[in-house]
Amino acid sequence: MKKIKLGVLASGRGSNLQAIIDNIEKGLLSAELTVVISDQAGAFALERARKHGIPAVHAGAKGFKDKREEYDALLVKELQKRSVDIVCLAGFMRIITPLLIKAFPDRILNIHPSLLPAFPGLHVQKKALDYGVKFSGCTVHFVDEGMDTGPIIIQAVVPVLDNDSEDSLSERILKQEHKIYSRAVQLLAEGKLKVEGRRVLLSDEGKRGEDFLLNP
Ligand code: GRF
Repeated sequence: MKKIKLGVLASGRGSNLQAIIDNIEKGLLSAELTVVISDQAGAFALERARKHGIPAVHAGAKGFKDKREEYDALLVKELQKRSVDIVCLAGFMRIITPLLIKAFPDRILNIHPSLLPAFPGLHVQKKALDYGVKFSGCTVHFVDEGMDTGPIIIQAVVPVLDNDSEDSLSERILKQEHKIYSRAVQLLAEGKLKVEGRRVLLSDEGKRGEDFLLNP
């Protein structure tokens, strides 16, 4: 079977990227990572890609200040050049435009460190702690034109403890991010996800419970 080609967009440290790379190398995710693109020249994500022999592209956003579509056209070109099928946003700190979304319909995923629709946007762990929720978690969703609003594919739940700081909560959530992102990509790559309005259905529904049991 032809391997699905992934492109990852990341702006920072790239721990989710690393989890995807590791899962591919361990055979847990059947895909080929054909390019990692960052808007930040110094992003550690690019370094991680290079270490694993994956093409790493710095697409600087300087000069594109009021030209978000033009910048996204550049991304589309880079992604298409490497025949990317699925685009994963992994800590990519830019809002993408319809131009990019339309180039990969239902093929762009994002990971967010809360149980959406709670706490979209930035400073998510602080928002969760300030609000006093007892559980938080992470969400992998399709990307639409809003901020963290697209149809939800998988979520994982973690407890919020009384003595949690932003860092300790982030760390607990991040462990789950590293599991569910690859799982979501695998399901999409296998053609098992069906989008019906806001709902994402698993085509092999019978196995749902089993597939979605996560170890803490
Ligand atoms: C993660 O918490 C992710 O959920 C959010 O940005 C962070 C990226 O972290 N979208 P990393 O660069 O993957 O380590």
